[in-house]
Amino acid sequence: MSELGSRHSSGNNLDPWYGSYAARTAGLAASEVRALFAVASRPEVVSLAGGMPFVSALPEDLVTDAMNRVMREQGPTALQYGSGQGVEKLREQTLEVMALEGIQGSASDVVITTGSQHALELFSKLFIDPGDVVIAEGPSYVTAMVIFKSYQAEVDHVPMDENGLIPEALREHIASIKAAGKTIKFLYTIPTFHNPAGVTLSEARRTEILEIARDNDILVLEDNPYGLLYFDQKPPAALRSLESDGVVYLGTFSKTLAPGFRVGWALAPHAIREKLILANEAAILCPSSFSQLVISQYLDQADWKGQINTFRGVYQERKETMLSALGEYLPDLTWTNPTGGFYVWLTLPEQLDSKAMLPRAVKELVAYTPGTAFYADGDGRQNIRLSFCYPTPESIRVGIRRLATVINGELDLLDTFAGTGRLTGGKSRGTFAAPPPNMS
Ligand SMILES: Cc1ncc(COP(=O)(O)O)c(C=O)c1O
Repeated sequence: MSELGSRHSSGNNLDPWYGSYAARTAGLAASEVRALFAVASRPEVVSLAGGMPFVSALPEDLVTDAMNRVMREQGPTALQYGSGQGVEKLREQTLEVMALEGIQGSASDVVITTGSQHALELFSKLFIDPGDVVIAEGPSYVTAMVIFKSYQAEVDHVPMDENGLIPEALREHIASIKAAGKTIKFLYTIPTFHNPAGVTLSEARRTEILEIARDNDILVLEDNPYGLLYFDQKPPAALRSLESDGVVYLGTFSKTLAPGFRVGWALAPHAIREKLILANEAAILCPSSFSQLVISQYLDQADWKGQINTFRGVYQERKETMLSALGEYLPDLTWTNPTGGFYVWLTLPEQLDSKAMLPRAVKELVAYTPGTAFYADGDGRQNIRLSFCYPTPESIRVGIRRLATVINGELDLLDTFAGTGRLTGGKSRGTFAAPPPNMS
């Protein structure tokens, strides 16, 4: 045994420090499908897996002009450290963005973060003790759950239907968590154009969910990256517009401008805002001055609302293409019909397992994210998240056609070997016990 190995006897040949990691890193295991996604990024594969915005729809000169101007007029500030809370002018501009979703607030309660992902991290660091419960929709945003688990929280999934989180189910879950003597720290929710489910919490339910949270002293963490990317109709106003003391709101420029800047923000009640600033300083000293000033300049000089309209048009066309291809190639399955955002949630026949099927899909040159990625407890095998944000409409059609080939192939196999798949004797696949169009 090497000296290193003997010093760290709980290590192994691959990682001599294996036994030294903090317990909270247990939740940081690489996803089982990660290796496959490396293959899926080959150009011949149609990837319906990632949530990458279509940044090519952004006129390059808009961003270049903003960058040049920042360097010409504010170069030394852009290249310097800045405030841990973020650039004041940009904080004020986020108020204009949030006003579009009915939110009124003060720039002094905004904290700029390195993407909303980092706000999720800071918020979790402030609130989660090991063993605490975080309530989230089932399914929920995969990388939020990675953070919650890395702070050793237990994630409790509350079911949704086509109108979002089900209030009655939330009440029941809260009661049973409390009865088990556990501490609920917050409700994490993506009420608008949910990732991954593609559904939106109805207006009536927004009030009800907030009432339930208030009655039970549960803080609400509203994550809203997609709210401005609606198709025909504006979604209901943000939860934060209805309640300011009990809601921490997260916004981002990643989907309405570009994720490469890594700029997001939190709007929080004063006391929480103070702690968020301290946590931000401790983690990164300050958010990128350069990125913040470029975005601020862009918001000043460009028609950013017009640009968001352009994105809306791009994504609406892609969503419609995806839904019409699903109708054509997989008419017996069910899926959600998002009214904005990036994602469709597909429900497979119950005999199929989305995770087990993925390698065969990649072999057929189509990639998706299996539903299991979006549950902390291994649920979701019967679901697939399909992203329509990045591939062109033509590729989306090709991708769905390939997916149909894979699904039908799986069903044929099951039928041949177990007699449980495709029903023969004149019956169509419509005779599956098709699940209702919900996520529960
Ligand atoms: C629901 C949700 N929250 C947060 C994020 C992170 O976004 P950002 O780029 O602002 O860190 C994403 C990105 O896809 C998301 O879908």
